[in-house]
Amino acid sequence: MAQYDVIIIGGGPGGYNAAIRAGQLGLKVVCVDKGIDGGDTLGGTCLNVGCMPSKALLHASEMFAAANTEFATLGIEVTPKLNLPQMMKQKADSVGALTKGIEFLFKKNKVDRVRGAGKIVGPGKVEVTGPDGAVTTLDAKDIVIATGSLPSGLPGVEVDQKRIVDSTGALTLPEVPGHLVVIGAGIIGLELGSVWRRLGAKVTVVEFLDRITPGMDAEMAKTFQRALTKQGMEFKLGSKVTGAKTSKTGVTLTYEPVAGGAAETLQADYVLLAIGRKPFTDGLGLESVGITPDKRGFIETDHWKTSAPGVWAIGDVTHGPMLAHKAEEESVACIETIAGKAGHVNYGIIPSVVYTSPEVAWVGKTEEELKAEGRAYKAGKFPFTANSRAKINHETEGFVKVLADATTDEILGAHLIGPQVSEMVGEYAVAMEFRAASEDVARTCHPHPTRSEALRQAAMGVEGWTMQA
Ligand code: FAD
Ligand code: NAI
Repeated sequence: MAQYDVIIIGGGPGGYNAAIRAGQLGLKVVCVDKGIDGGDTLGGTCLNVGCMPSKALLHASEMFAAANTEFATLGIEVTPKLNLPQMMKQKADSVGALTKGIEFLFKKNKVDRVRGAGKIVGPGKVEVTGPDGAVTTLDAKDIVIATGSLPSGLPGVEVDQKRIVDSTGALTLPEVPGHLVVIGAGIIGLELGSVWRRLGAKVTVVEFLDRITPGMDAEMAKTFQRALTKQGMEFKLGSKVTGAKTSKTGVTLTYEPVAGGAAETLQADYVLLAIGRKPFTDGLGLESVGITPDKRGFIETDHWKTSAPGVWAIGDVTHGPMLAHKAEEESVACIETIAGKAGHVNYGIIPSVVYTSPEVAWVGKTEEELKAEGRAYKAGKFPFTANSRAKINHETEGFVKVLADATTDEILGAHLIGPQVSEMVGEYAVAMEFRAASEDVARTCHPHPTRSEALRQAAMGVEGWTMQA
């Protein structure tokens, strides 16, 4: 039986980062990963069928759309032609390189890797069934569960990955749909809906709630929906899907108003079901150590410790936002705690990004959350129409909003919508980690001309001295 300090089950952003950090701290560590859909690459959902392939298609399709609609303004005349197989190939090549990168990092940090499905069979014991059916038993003082999540299903809408797809199927459609119907106006639906709309599909989004992207500041969500509608995306809000009938050539989807009313149908070439994800613990043997997941399937933890001594859980399989950087953050904190250090995650400062066009990025509290808490706050705003770099680039959509405590001026939230704001929100995350006041950002010299100046101008707005709008 192989003896380790730590066994990590799962090779996604939670698991692989935990393994690397454990190796760095001198722990004898093994990462057990069964791959995605029987594949043998590390990286979990994020690298194989999540963050990375979706961003590859978002980037390529954004370039295609720009060539179609924006280049002429810049004096560049082209007639772009879509080569979908090449677009898919460059995505697969990048993903392949990234997953190989993790293998390299494992070697560099002396992390052992075992392929196969891990099952906890008792305290400190994990049985791994390899792709060839061979069973290996591993033994360690600590076990970290990082088994991630899977797409949630919807009764009456059966995913066949042909006509009705989940996010994995939507990343590899064989053609541009004439009409793509997306169920769920969340992050996956809007990102992947954007990809196919830019490539030429008509896209209709059916959402249960009467707004898009729950969790996003309501003012940002309204602006965002307006921008997507302008691009041609159609929304059916407050609508619930009740069934789907598939034929060889398409799908008939039935939906009805949540508030009550007559059912209607939509004819689609493809349907993307994207109504959230659920934690994955099938076959993990949790019962052998007395762990019972909660009603929604999440493993409950206190500082990444489960109820079973020596068993820890991080990432999508436990509570909190289902984001790669949240999993990564927890992996470091969990391993540092195992190694006797002081692990820490600031759950109030985990940024969120929707990588559409415009992008939406935020960190900290929304206005709705602050109002619900009864916290007095001030807001400063700055539109990109008044930002010189955005103007010069003909990319003036969106704005920045900063929320700060009315008394102390501590920054409580920052909300950005516009091109490439994903690269800008980190500035506010750092400021908030240092518990900065909005005045700290307002009085920090920013380079000119950059979009980041909008961050400063919005901060100035908290005390009413925005200078450039
Ligand atoms: P996962 O990445 O799901 O990894 C779990 C791994 O464990 C998998 O390889 C799985 O096969 C393996 N496993 C499960 N059970 C066992 C077992 N018993 N034995 C061995 N191995 C096992 N997040 C972002 O932050 N930014 C984004 O842009 C983003 N885009 C996304 C786009 C899409 C389309 C999707 C679906 C998700 C996206 N996410 C994004 C979310 C992100 O992918 C997840 O939050 C992240 O992958 C969670 O990491 P994890 O390590 O907890 O789990
Ligand atoms: P989501 O939780 O973001 O959105 C799901 C949407 O579906 C919600 O608007 C919800 O109200 C709606 N919905 C639920 N049931 C419905 C029903 N029966 N009919 C119609 N609408 C319904 O989930 P999504 O988009 O599936 O993404 C899952 C997770 O993956 C995200 O929460 C996020 O954590 C992660 N992710 C992150 C990305 C990023 O960081 N850029 C990109 C993609 C995914």
